[in-house]
Amino acid sequence: MPAGRLDNKTALITGGASGIGAAAARRFVAEGANVVITDRDTENGRALADELGRKTVFVEHDVTMEASWQHAIGAARNAFETLTTIVNSAGISVPGSIEDVTFEAFQQTIAINLHGVFLGCKYGLAAIKNQAGASIVNVGSTLGVKGGAPFAAYCASKGGVRMLSKSAALHCAEQGYDVRVNCVVPGAIHTEMVERYIAAGIAQGSTREAVIEGFASAHPMNRLGRPDEPANAIVFLASDEATFTTGVDLPVDGGQLL
Ligand SMILES: NC(=O)c1ccc[n+]([C@@H]2O[C@H](COP(=O)([O-])OP(=O)(O)OC[C@H]3O[C@@H](n4cnc5c(N)ncnc54)[C@H](O)[C@@H]3O)[C@@H](O)[C@H]2O)c1
Repeated sequence: MPAGRLDNKTALITGGASGIGAAAARRFVAEGANVVITDRDTENGRALADELGRKTVFVEHDVTMEASWQHAIGAARNAFETLTTIVNSAGISVPGSIEDVTFEAFQQTIAINLHGVFLGCKYGLAAIKNQAGASIVNVGSTLGVKGGAPFAAYCASKGGVRMLSKSAALHCAEQGYDVRVNCVVPGAIHTEMVERYIAAGIAQGSTREAVIEGFASAHPMNRLGRPDEPANAIVFLASDEATFTTGVDLPVDGGQLL
């Protein structure tokens, strides 16, 4: 069998039950990694771990809770002894402009998308910093680079993820840790997150095709991305092909940020 690009890695992937996290879990296993799928969605998380077989386990995990992180990392070590890689993909998107979004929705978005990544970097780093070839890959968004009027909370959370990642990357380099910290920056990717926007558009009288076209037209390549496209970028950043790459934002966005 040819060598896998992640043969020597054991990864904990948050949000691994769905979308980009699930696609990353599939790609990581295909490239030889052990994978700990974590999610608060136990049904889909367990089903995917069962499907992917003995190199995969599922752990129930709420990324907003410190104790849940400690539990998930402990469970990962119990399953595979070491941990080299953290992929922070769990996230939500609640629409709302600065005038419309409630404080509750804003706080919930920051709790999952930013506090969750903070905890993943903090506890993840403690778990992986003595391993060779370790890294953290955070899932940002083009909406963490450019503003979006209807996405005030989401943009704020994803902008935070970008800068947190750069700060952590610099810290690891300064400390001499063999740990890189990078972000993938997807445009609109056709996952359950986008399906919820499609359903909302239909509920407001639009058609499925019109909502998809609306997302697609925001990208020069004029289509939605597929979950395997950011997953492939995550594989690269987590692999030993990227050993001199840290603190970057890697767009997977059909040219949206050009
Ligand atoms: N789909 C897109 O267009 C898009 C674009 C840019 C960035 N992203 C980012 O990609 C990441 C994955 O999104 P997706 O599109 O795959 O969405 P998704 O809804 O398909 O998957 C998100 C997963 O996160 C899990 N999750 C949510 N809150 C959680 C919590 N508190 N604890 C643990 N798990 C939790 C969900 O259960 C779900 O399985 C998110 O960070 C999202 O912001 C998505």
